[in-house]
Amino acid sequence: MKFTQFLLRNSSIPKQALVDRFSKFSPSPLSMKQFIDFGSANACEKTSFVFLRQELPVRLANIMKEIDFLPDKLLSTPSLQLLQSWYATSLMEIVGFLEKDPDDKKILKKFTETLVNIRNRHNNVVTTMAQGVVEYKDAFGSDPVTNQNVQYFLDRFYMSRISTRMIMNQHSLIFDGSANPAHPKHIGTIDPDCAVTEVVKDAFDSSKMLCEQYYMTSPEIDLTQVNAKGPDQPLRIVYVPSHLYHMLFELFKNAMRATVETHEMALHLPPVKVRVSLGSEDLTIKISDRGGGVPLRKIERLFSYMYSTAPSPVDIDNSRNAPLAGFGYGLPISRLYAKYFQGDLQLYSMEGYGTSAVIYLKALSSESVERLPVYNQSAIRHYQTSNEADDWCMPSKDPKKLGKYERRS
Ligand SMILES: Nc1ncnc2c1ncn2[C@@H]1O[C@H](COP(=O)(O)OP(=O)(O)O)[C@@H](O)[C@H]1O
Ligand SMILES: [Mg+2]
Repeated sequence: MKFTQFLLRNSSIPKQALVDRFSKFSPSPLSMKQFIDFGSANACEKTSFVFLRQELPVRLANIMKEIDFLPDKLLSTPSLQLLQSWYATSLMEIVGFLEKDPDDKKILKKFTETLVNIRNRHNNVVTTMAQGVVEYKDAFGSDPVTNQNVQYFLDRFYMSRISTRMIMNQHSLIFDGSANPAHPKHIGTIDPDCAVTEVVKDAFDSSKMLCEQYYMTSPEIDLTQVNAKGPDQPLRIVYVPSHLYHMLFELFKNAMRATVETHEMALHLPPVKVRVSLGSEDLTIKISDRGGGVPLRKIERLFSYMYSTAPSPVDIDNSRNAPLAGFGYGLPISRLYAKYFQGDLQLYSMEGYGTSAVIYLKALSSESVERLPVYNQSAIRHYQTSNEADDWCMPSKDPKKLGKYERRS
């Protein structure tokens, strides 16, 4: 069932009209500076409220439009039905504030509560979506075009989710009236003075603990940092520490697992090398392991949602038994976090030796601007790509045919 039909069947109010209306607006990406202004001394809850009651429906409606382009058989899985109902409910709840008086303190309080509810409602979006994809793949298989479309969609869908959670968190953390005693300088989830190597060490230690539990051993860290401004300058950027931690934790778990598993018989494990460097444009973190590497042919696949290895509900519940590896979403989601503020995450591997994972972040907060999907003609075109012939010759599968003429079919 298409989203449109879903809404029409379940509504007394014309919800689809709302989705249509809000999807005509493009989302407004915020810069780190704007995020910080919203939360600084002259922070104004009313301004933030007026912005969000428009911007959240726009972001939700933009991605809801793209949900419609998923294959019908994926849309009709119970997981996707559930997920669509969450989106519809949340959209309606926020739109309910459009006519409300921003000067009414009670309204502002109610709004913050609504945001917290919405955030909780959407907690399981990633696993629910992943489950839908697995159900679909198990039942109907998958072809390259579907893979490509689902990959394109999920990158945008999960990015949209990262962004809506970010703006909802900022509002509810800043305006719920309680300061954060552990981090008084943080602005919502943002640390204006994020000490990158501290986050590196935290993420490494947590990963090390898991690795020890699971394998009874773990590699050490070999950490160096370079600041282009001078050797004694601190390495700090404006960033969301939880996002950075998420990426590093995933990369360390992968590096440790590969290291331990390829050196099972060795007495000494090669350390995981970490280089952190701050330049005028980039903050770069390179994590290199000697875990045997991955052949080039497979690298792209490691970022693919369709290739991932599980998650039936049983596997999700049992994932604690295999703490170092999840269901294959570590890399793709981490790359989205990096890209969210205009960075990137890339893997370089030498099969037979090891892998380097590199996180690129913007060094300047003026360049850290949200990267958001927008629903428009170019997006639609991506879903309409058909199964065309490759414009590069395919090597013949049958070596006996080599040298003979092959008829084009
Ligand atoms: N540093 C690495 N060395 C070797 N293989 C790796 C490395 N990082 C990732 N991989 C491979 O990529 C796969 C996907 O990684 P990831 O997205 O983190 O999912 P998961 O760890 O849950 O399987 C891993 O299962 C592993 O096979
Ligand atoms: Mg992993």
